[in-house]
Amino acid sequence: MKICCIGAGYVGGPTMAMIAHKCDDIDVHVVDINSDRIAAWNSGTLPVYEPGLQEIVEANRDRNLFFSTEVDAHIRDADIIFISVNTPTKQYGVGKGKAADLKFIELCARRIAEVAVGHKIIVEKSTLPVRTAETVKRILANTPHGATFDVLSNPEFLAEGTAMTDLEAPDRVLIGGESAAAIETLVSVYARWVARERILTTNLWSSELSKLAANAFLAQRISSINAISALCEATQADVDEVAHAIGKDSRIGPKFLKASVGFGGSCFQKDILNLVYLCEHYGLTEVAEYWNQVVKMNDYQKARFARNMVKTLFNTVSGKRIAMLGYAFKKDTNDTRESAAIYVCRDLLTEQANVAIYDPKVTPAQIKADLKTVFTNGNGELAARDRKLIEENVIFCSSAQEAAKDAHGVAVMTEWDEFKTLDPAELYGLVYKPAFLFDGRNILDHNAYLQAGFEVYAIGKGLLDGE
Ligand SMILES: NC(=O)c1ccc[n+]([C@@H]2O[C@H](COP(=O)([O-])OP(=O)(O)OC[C@H]3O[C@@H](n4cnc5c(N)ncnc54)[C@H](O)[C@@H]3O)[C@@H](O)[C@H]2O)c1
Repeated sequence: MKICCIGAGYVGGPTMAMIAHKCDDIDVHVVDINSDRIAAWNSGTLPVYEPGLQEIVEANRDRNLFFSTEVDAHIRDADIIFISVNTPTKQYGVGKGKAADLKFIELCARRIAEVAVGHKIIVEKSTLPVRTAETVKRILANTPHGATFDVLSNPEFLAEGTAMTDLEAPDRVLIGGESAAAIETLVSVYARWVARERILTTNLWSSELSKLAANAFLAQRISSINAISALCEATQADVDEVAHAIGKDSRIGPKFLKASVGFGGSCFQKDILNLVYLCEHYGLTEVAEYWNQVVKMNDYQKARFARNMVKTLFNTVSGKRIAMLGYAFKKDTNDTRESAAIYVCRDLLTEQANVAIYDPKVTPAQIKADLKTVFTNGNGELAARDRKLIEENVIFCSSAQEAAKDAHGVAVMTEWDEFKTLDPAELYGLVYKPAFLFDGRNILDHNAYLQAGFEVYAIGKGLLDGE
């Protein structure tokens, strides 16, 4: 059997590496139009950082796992074609700011229709609005070489940072489709390492919608606990204690109840906005408003964190150095898409702070690119003033200590494990006094920092001054 996966990103790369790793007899070709990305997949420095990924890629690459820009050739050869391209929020025209931009999906479907021969199983791996398979099928119906197709939906539930363990032992694999034979072919691939009872099969539309719904539910839990964190700060309740207490209720459960500076990542916001757009499209105004609030609460939490920093630092951060520990949207990934750090950094720069950033996996080039994007206005213009802020007020550091040196405040933005073992006394010795710590992830030992001399602002706990 031959598999082709179009899109060598955070999903396509790890997912196909796992299939190749588990299925010796299947040749897996991951193709992309981005030649730099393909070159990186073929090099010693992969474009995606995930614990355990490098080992699996190196063990299978050029054996039964291949990365290439030869899109047409591998479409032609494959029995199963996964479409795993990006589906970002649309930035133009109808649905701007909410709807999923499906141009990359459509381009893939047209390419497949154009070059395919024989029978192919097309698998939607990208997260798509419900009923996209209808569009894909209509495009595939116009094929010059008499090819025939079955379209399946097989959304990916991996979480970045734990992608390889999620792929190796998924809670479930979901496959939606109409053709029992096509479904069984794909089931038989996953069944090499996933127990059959964990492979769920549904109709196409349930499968497409389940992915959007799952992300909306996960994000909703974070916004719910973040909403409670604001109330905790106003009432001297402690959000970690509240989360623990409510999470003990087996109907609620303990996962995804960690208050933080806000969720990030390429998926949650875009998928909820996509859900909101779909609800509006079907005239379900109240349903759309309900889900939209999850995103609004997340924006509020990010802005509230930056505002609290400014307020705590005597209502001005102008000319002050703020150490930002972590920039990725979560630990164990180099992905910064929609990271809360971007927005907090923007707000601090707007207040004319100097932001000293250290992240173990994110490059300065990526940080600059993110900041340029977030400062760029709707007409695609980056004001000279903002460009200057990015060039002159952002300092790239290669350790937490370097970032903290002479800082007026230290902010934890990403929950990297290495931050948990920082020495509070050492940091205290480096920063300006009074010393302030802002823990946007509630991962540090706040008492230890208080004892070292810091005043500590923690999400859902407020300002702790040790007295
Ligand atoms: N990142 C996650 O954690 C995650 C988890 C589950 C689902 N998803 C979904 O999976 C999909 C892919 O996400 P990602 O994070 O891997 O995106 P990504 O941006 O990392 O990768 C997408 C890749 O597709 C390539 N591409 C785009 N159009 C192409 C074309 N016409 N031909 C060939 N290649 C093309 C791009 O060059 C890019 O390398 C999205 O729909 C996303 O919502 C993502």
